[in-house]
Amino acid sequence: MRRLTLLVPLLFFVQCKKQTTPPTGLVAKKAMVVSARGEASKIGVGIMQKGGNVFDAMVATEMALAVAYPFAGNLGGGGFMVYRKADGEVGALDYREKAPLSAHADMYLDSLGNVIPNMSTVGATAVGVPGTVAGIMEVHQKFGSLPLKTILEPVIALAKKGVVVTEKQAKRIENYQEEFIEVNGDSTKFAQGFKAGDTIKYPKLAQTLTKIMNEGRNGFYKGEVAQQLASFIQENGGFITEEDLAKYEAKWRYPVKFKYKDLKVISMSPPSSGGVTMNQIFKMMEPYDVRSFGHNSAQTVQLFTEAARRAYADRNYFLGDPDFVDIPLDVILTDSYLKERMVNFSFDKATLSSDVSHGEVEIVESMETTHYSIVDAQGNAISATTTLNGAYGSKLYHAELGFFLNNEMDDFSAKPGVPNMFGLIGAEANSIAPEKRMLSSMTPTIVEKDGKLWMVVGTPGGSTIITAVAQTILNVYEFDLSMQDAVNAPRFHHQWLPDMVVFEPDGFSDDLKSNLKEKGYIINENRTPIIGKVDAIKVLPDGRLEGGADKRGDDTALGF
Ligand code: DON
Repeated sequence: MRRLTLLVPLLFFVQCKKQTTPPTGLVAKKAMVVSARGEASKIGVGIMQKGGNVFDAMVATEMALAVAYPFAGNLGGGGFMVYRKADGEVGALDYREKAPLSAHADMYLDSLGNVIPNMSTVGATAVGVPGTVAGIMEVHQKFGSLPLKTILEPVIALAKKGVVVTEKQAKRIENYQEEFIEVNGDSTKFAQGFKAGDTIKYPKLAQTLTKIMNEGRNGFYKGEVAQQLASFIQENGGFITEEDLAKYEAKWRYPVKFKYKDLKVISMSPPSSGGVTMNQIFKMMEPYDVRSFGHNSAQTVQLFTEAARRAYADRNYFLGDPDFVDIPLDVILTDSYLKERMVNFSFDKATLSSDVSHGEVEIVESMETTHYSIVDAQGNAISATTTLNGAYGSKLYHAELGFFLNNEMDDFSAKPGVPNMFGLIGAEANSIAPEKRMLSSMTPTIVEKDGKLWMVVGTPGGSTIITAVAQTILNVYEFDLSMQDAVNAPRFHHQWLPDMVVFEPDGFSDDLKSNLKEKGYIINENRTPIIGKVDAIKVLPDGRLEGGADKRGDDTALGF
């Protein structure tokens, strides 16, 4: 009896503690946007203040990022969006780039069958058919409530007025200056150095956006802009034709949905690997009492790493564009299959990925995609990740249209077994074919708890996107971190090959690392990159929203 009286308050305390982690990020009562730039968050919030819904705000934010964050925000790239309406309806939009009609499996190989360096990463040859404008138009047509003009006017005004360069942005532009000049010549806009505090105006981009505002998707995929774009890409040696542009369609997809303990996760389906891979990771971890292991403890790192190792091995082999390949989701997402995958896992010793030596494959440090999360006053939510792939994409800049073009073709597997710029090794499922979409890791995600909206989350980070999103969810759910603290918390990554755990620079002790090394984990101590820039929103128990804007960038949460 006495034991019971002690236990009851204790349980109550544990339960309360679970529910009441105090917020440390921006808190808003009704609506919020978290994105890579304050200017974009402000425009998105402004649209909702004018009575626009989450979808109107998405269109505005996506375009505002194309202006304020040309590093990754784009007209010349693509992305994915997952939504959950206040009534619980969920869905997903695929506005991923496609291979041009003339593409073929060996297009990046020389006569000896070797991958031609840079051909899928730099300049016009790397460009996939852009999907972003089709994506936002599809969203607006299906779910928008305000006129396109109301949504795009503030974005066009921003492009005309210009955007102030931040310290981080100035550094990024400087880092890529040589490549801009190499690809575009020395009179290119970004060849001139920009300092923090300078204002960059985008009059040409404003013109292109005005065309899109007036003519909708045809203002981009047909007519003058399409002609200018296709001839520019071809003059520079690339493959995209007017026909490729005219044929591009964004596609509604069924998101991946799965349960993890009492959460329901809704995430992006193929051609992104994000949802499927995260589903596998979570299901492999679910049988364990992760909470009791502790945040970023050796046991947590081990369990997560081993689950990620196995999930990425499946990712690289099975996943590709579902319109081209049969993906055995009915097998690889089943409990019995995933249980079997973990049969040889032990906390005593690392599983080795393969005999590929870890030194041979490098993961490039890159944060060039961008993610934004939005919740509106009605409780509708969207989670969208958009990208040019590399920093400023292919670096190819169309001066007259005012935007960079992607280098998304590198996300295909140019040759089975040869790693792409993220060190990902692909297989036949992700080989190049005309009109096929290249496999992505982008993981825009929405999480429900007790049947209600609980979190909106996503990040850039190439192959590290999936693990960063998964760790952010676990940080809040298992380890009671606030949304902002969960976003800021140090992250680690493993992707099967190369067989190494990568840790962020701070937050992982030498003791932890030597403990893992003793168990056979290979730790890349030479590289401690920043992993992801997570932008997330959590619904607090009282219904208010807490933003998590990643401290690693200029990311900003705004709301009302
Ligand atoms: O779709 C993908 O997985 C990649 N193109 C994403 C690239 C990315 O996140 C770059 N930033 N780190």
